[in-house]
Amino acid sequence: MAPKLPRMLLKFKVLVLLFALALSSVNAQNTTPKKRIGNETPQQKEKRMAWWTHDRFGMFIHWGLYALPARHEWVKHNEKMNNEQYQKYFDTFNPDLFDPKTWAKSAKAAGMKYAVLTTKHHEGFCLFDSKYTDYKATNTGAKRDLVKEFVEAFRAEGIKVGFYYSLLDWHHPDYTIDEIHPQSPASGADSAYDRLNKGRDMNKYRAYLRNQVRELLTNYGKIDILWLDFSFPGKHGKGRDDWGSVELLKMIRQLQPGIIVDNRLDLDDYADGADFATPEQVKPSELKSDYGGMPFETCQTFSGSWGYYRDENTWKTIHELLMLLITSVSKSGNLILNVGPTARGVFDYRAQRALTAIGDWMQYNNKAIYGCKQAPEGYEAPIGTLLTYNQETKRLYLHLTNYPFLDQYPHGMVTLHGYKDKFKYAQLLNDDSEIKWQAVEGTDDVVLTLPALKPNIEIPVVELILK
Ligand code: GLC
Repeated sequence: MAPKLPRMLLKFKVLVLLFALALSSVNAQNTTPKKRIGNETPQQKEKRMAWWTHDRFGMFIHWGLYALPARHEWVKHNEKMNNEQYQKYFDTFNPDLFDPKTWAKSAKAAGMKYAVLTTKHHEGFCLFDSKYTDYKATNTGAKRDLVKEFVEAFRAEGIKVGFYYSLLDWHHPDYTIDEIHPQSPASGADSAYDRLNKGRDMNKYRAYLRNQVRELLTNYGKIDILWLDFSFPGKHGKGRDDWGSVELLKMIRQLQPGIIVDNRLDLDDYADGADFATPEQVKPSELKSDYGGMPFETCQTFSGSWGYYRDENTWKTIHELLMLLITSVSKSGNLILNVGPTARGVFDYRAQRALTAIGDWMQYNNKAIYGCKQAPEGYEAPIGTLLTYNQETKRLYLHLTNYPFLDQYPHGMVTLHGYKDKFKYAQLLNDDSEIKWQAVEGTDDVVLTLPALKPNIEIPVVELILK
């Protein structure tokens, strides 16, 4: 009786293998090449995106009228407010402390190399002086084009400039009511949608959105990134046809040939319908190294909300924020970290504190971030560590995320499996102090001896100079 089970298992394995083979050949037959919008070659694309792939770390800024209620940028939706009820925020908006130069300095000190500002969020309010609407900053207490000042201030600090633009618009009279609009019908019945949408014309809204994107990409000089947000196709949703995504992207590429565009236009079946994937608010452990061949940028908040949220108190620790940054780079991706300035136009003290702490770490460890990517095959990260790699300088960075490894390495030792003969020198990155190591006899392993006392660095990094 005994041998029966293994034999059955074997049969099962063979069956699974055959099934997998059959499936993969079906898949192979089905992979017709994706459609294309332009004719850029992979080499040209790599070149266009080179600075972004190198820089790895950016700042997102969500700022709009929702900073006044200070309870989430979706407050209009969450509380089902209509335009009249929301009007008080427009009437009150007066960011008397707005000084984007201080924002830019904070971003730079934190090591951020690019910044993306919400020129318009779902609420429809424009921070820029658009000629297609009156619902804009110039008509509030701000009395000026806030986007223009943002662009100038960040450029002056050498930070690349990006625009977020919401495809959704919960203010525009022609934007049809869909399932996530603040005025979506509770019944969900088609007839209710029809009734609410009488007189609304998406063709007009589509032209409006196109005109505004043209303004943004024409009036502010070179724009490095465009972050369009977002698509939710479906019966009472919106997608590429509603936005006119294909034509929109063509126009964008024509106006700003160097620009980098996110993947929220609902153009997944185009080979060049997007430049990067945007995993949002995922845990480090959920980040993948492959998003269908597209590079990724994970977007994350300090707390739960993008817009300023006064009473939200679940702020990430500095350790958690650094884990997000390092994990992203260890999987060849970027991190864009969000700040939601207050309605008066300043970074909340908690955001400022976090940025300063990140800057403290970056000051001494940024070589393990800029220009780095996933470690090559054959380099295993011991438990409690993450690896990043700079191909140009041939340096491997071992991020000690769990210092001093008391549970795994009682004597401050870290074993690197299979690293024998792979590197010639090891040092702590923050102070270039030597880390001694020895090979483990009879194996390919190497043991590093770490300082018994944790260096005064949130996540210390060992730099291995490869052979
Ligand atoms: C989401 C939210 C939005 C936020 C964005 C950032 O799509 O609607 O509030 O701006 O993600 O990624």
